[in-house]
Order: sequence, then structure tokens, then C-alpha cells
Amino acid sequence: TRKVTTHRLIEMKERGEKISMLTAYDYTMAKIVDGAGMDVILVGDSASNVMAGNVTTLPITLDQMIYHGKSVVRAVNRAMVVVDMPFGSYQGNSKEGLASAIRIMKESHADALKLEGGEEIIETVKRILCAGIPIMGHLGLMPQSINKYGTYTVRAKDEAEAEKLLSDAHLLEEAGCFALVLEKIPASLAERVAKELTIPVIGIGAGGKVDGQVLVVQDMLGMSKGFSPRFLRRYADLHTIMTDAIQQYVTDVKDSDFPNEKEQY
Ligand code: KIV
Ligand code: NA
Repeated sequence: TRKVTTHRLIEMKERGEKISMLTAYDYTMAKIVDGAGMDVILVGDSASNVMAGNVTTLPITLDQMIYHGKSVVRAVNRAMVVVDMPFGSYQGNSKEGLASAIRIMKESHADALKLEGGEEIIETVKRILCAGIPIMGHLGLMPQSINKYGTYTVRAKDEAEAEKLLSDAHLLEEAGCFALVLEKIPASLAERVAKELTIPVIGIGAGGKVDGQVLVVQDMLGMSKGFSPRFLRRYADLHTIMTDAIQQYVTDVKDSDFPNEKEQY
């Protein structure tokens, strides 16, 4: 099985083959996701919420993202592994951004990085690309900017924000990004971006007329209970399956049913 490369993803767009992408933050999950045939595995900074229980993605550190990145890379044979640059590691000057990018690549052995933003971070994007590090852009709802928005609602519904998003998408493509994630924007706008760009556009809550889809794996497996946005399709109810299994274990331990004679030495 050949590794998925940036070049192959662009070929997939040209052929009209949709790109599948899911998050993973640890070895065990990444092994399952890669084995199931995923094209791209995102070590998202959503690990801040999903793995650490933080309310936002802001607290996760560069060291923590590198730890998650390493764990995923060790498990993966085929998928391209993209690591999110965390809040604070690239929004300042481009020199610091490049230093953070190099640390992630050197220490995690990831294939590419993802950064949130357009024009505001374009110098940093160019500097990282100059070092030969592939970058996936991220526009629309950018959770690292939640304190600016004040809400996780749909972005770019008004014309000004939609125009800015379109121009940012072109800036990122012209800078040399190999793909772009669009989060929680109107489907019609996402369709327009995917049509105008030659690089693949991967959506989450951005409709079906883009080049690929991404979800948080714990959400699509139904492990998280409270989170039910319209864009989320649940492919399993692991919350119920895991709770039943764990309750059965508790019962078996209490009843001295586990372990039995065959389960001991
Ligand atoms: O961190 C993350 O999970 C992401 C995806 C939702 C695109 O950035
Ligand atoms: Na992210």
C-alpha cells in the first residue's frame, strides 16, 4: 500500500474521486482509521476538547500536539498524516511560526501541517512552504478564533465575510497550499470555492459539493453524547456499546463472575 501524498490528493480532485479524512489523536484509534482505508488522518487540535476535556482548542500546547502526532504516525501505513499547528505557535511573527513548524515535522514525522487563517498569516504560510513543509489551509469557522467570534455558529453568511473567505482561499492556493479545509459555511459558498480552486477543498459542515469530507472520529462513532450539530452523521453508537460493556464488567467483578477458572494462571 502506497502512502497517500499531496500529489495524489490533487490527482484525486482532477479525477473527481472524493477524499476521505477523519481525525485521530492516539495510536490505537489511528491504527483502526488507517486500516479502514482513510486517505487523510488529521491530528486535530480538537484533541484539546476531545482528549483533554478543554472547552476550546486554545489551551493545547506545541509539545502536546507533537505527542499526539508521534502517536498517530507510529500507527499509520497508508494515510497522509496532517498535524494542526496549535494556537499561539504561528500567529506571531513568521520566524516563530517556521520554528514551530520545523519542531512538529522533526519530532512527529508528520507529512503535513494545517494552519487556521488566510491573509493574516500568509507570510508565515509562505515561510513554512519555503522550508518544503506542505500546508493545508483552514478557513470558515476557525475554532482558534472563538474568542473573536463569540459563537460556534455558521460563518460567512454575509457578503463581506464570504468575499474575504474567497479571496483568502485564492491567496492560500497561490502561496502553494496543497489543500484547504472549510468549516461550517454555506454549501453554496463552499461549492464556489471548490470550483474556483485547483487544490482539493475538504469540508466539515460545508455541504457535499466539495472535494472531500472530514469529521472528528469520536463524533462520527457516537462516543460523544452532547454534541449534535446538523452536519454530524453518526455511523455507530459506541457510547451505548461501550457503556453496556463496561457496566457488564462492573457487574461481573462485583458478582465474582470475572475472572473464571479459565481466565487465571
Ligand atoms: O481540529 C480539528 O478536528 C479540525 C477539523 C474539524 C477540521 O480542525
Ligand atoms: Na483544528
